[in-house]
Amino acid sequence: MKKGRVLTIILMSCLSSISALYAAGDAAKGEQTFKAQCMICHGEKGQGDGAAAVALNPKPRNFSSEEFCKADVVALKTSIKNGKNAMPPFGSALSAEQIEDVFAYVRNFCPKAAK
Ligand code: HEC
Repeated sequence: MKKGRVLTIILMSCLSSISALYAAGDAAKGEQTFKAQCMICHGEKGQGDGAAAVALNPKPRNFSSEEFCKADVVALKTSIKNGKNAMPPFGSALSAEQIEDVFAYVRNFCPKAAK
């Protein structure tokens, strides 16, 4: 009986960490999307210095800036979906899951302390 309970607890914590991972998006998958769709403006290291950035005002967001790393996550994802100023909307080009994945990838540009 006791063993069964321990197993159940282990199983449940595994399941919840799997769903937490899913909710956080898969950065490895997001990398491909980033390179194909975002890097031209946001730059290889996400610093807002991509090839197209010179022509843009306001500049693409610097993903390693404290301002970005501390901003409201829901609002940031909404901007990816709906666009913001010079940034086009990606809500039809990318699925909700792809947006989660690419967001997880750009979040990795944040300094560890700011995450
Ligand atoms: C055509 C250039 C361009 C492309 C392509 C682009 N962005 Fe942006 N992005 C911008 C600009 C410019 C801003 C700043 C908008 C502002 O501050 O008004 C921005 C801002 C953002 C922000 C911050 C939004 C906010 O609410 O502050 C996020 C997050 C973001 N981009 C993610 C992405 C992702 C992910 C992709 C690829 C799927 C992408 N961008 C592709 C130009 C681009």
